[in-house]
Amino acid sequence: MSDEASPEITPEAVETAVNAALSAIAEASDSAELKAVRAAHAAEGSTLARLNARMRDVPKEKKAEFGKLLGQGRGRVSQALAAREEEIAAAETAARLEAERVDITAVPRRARTGARHPLTLLQEEISDVFVGMGWEIAEGPELEHEWFNFDALNIAPDHPSRQMQDSFYVDPVERHLVMRTHTSPVQMRSMLERDIPIYVLSPGRVYRADEFDATHLPVFSQFEGLVVDRGITMAHLKGTLDHIARVLFGDEAKTRMRANYFPFTEPSAEFDLWHPTFKGGARWIEWGGCGMVNPNVLRAAGIDPEEYSGFAFGMGFERTLMFRSDVKDMRDMAEGDVRFSEQFGMVV
Ligand code: DAH
Repeated sequence: MSDEASPEITPEAVETAVNAALSAIAEASDSAELKAVRAAHAAEGSTLARLNARMRDVPKEKKAEFGKLLGQGRGRVSQALAAREEEIAAAETAARLEAERVDITAVPRRARTGARHPLTLLQEEISDVFVGMGWEIAEGPELEHEWFNFDALNIAPDHPSRQMQDSFYVDPVERHLVMRTHTSPVQMRSMLERDIPIYVLSPGRVYRADEFDATHLPVFSQFEGLVVDRGITMAHLKGTLDHIARVLFGDEAKTRMRANYFPFTEPSAEFDLWHPTFKGGARWIEWGGCGMVNPNVLRAAGIDPEEYSGFAFGMGFERTLMFRSDVKDMRDMAEGDVRFSEQFGMVV
């Protein structure tokens, strides 16, 4: 190191070097800058270090005075460095915490899984039972021609369900289109579209100008069964109804028939379900309508009633769900509140 680069050691030179260091320290605004200031003003090669190196040139009697001056100056600088370092570290930590802040009071955006509607689940469950017996699922349009909905089913022109106040007709009325009032029109469609033997289940939505209350919905759903084959008797009908009753309601479940009238079946019956696990005690519950397919209906489909016979039945999904799952108010099934569906679980 040349003498030129090494300043003369004087109180002024020390003071100047210390002041330069202190103001550089005060100006450093982050730890990288402070590191550079430390290198320039306190480390080896800095003015203070070089002044220190000149101590050996100081005459003996001045050594104590100069040593003290220099020591104090270097002490102030290193204290200032330490203090500024702490300030900068605190500020940097605060900035990082702020940047990484997590608001634990914020409402998280959770993806709700939702749930499938219990009516859909029941429809699939019942369809599976029939498909398991070799039946097919048949479909028909919800906007139906009057002929399929009424005439083909032997329903007379003066039958009350044909009245405007009971059924939703669609303009213009000359087109004779009605929102189907039951799934029975799929019987005729199936007979026209398929070859015998016919074993079909037809689940779907139906429409009636009904009240919207705890036990009625103007839009609800039914499932219709139809069999046409050789030698079909009422015993097959009874066996089929008992089977679906047992699958849905347990081994002790069974059905009974009460004579009734439906235009499209002869004989006709209403049937009740023996519900062994009904909340409030085992009991008979009215479930649906059924019967042997009326020969007039077979003839309308071009099927010879002398050669073939068949049975049919129909019942409502909402009603079935009501007494199977103890749902007190049918409107819960129509309102689409996911909290209702969630109670039935996410069965896939
Ligand atoms: N379609 C009838 C209704 O909605 C129910 C019904 C009765 C269907 C007798 C049938 C049957 O297939 O044979 O009230």
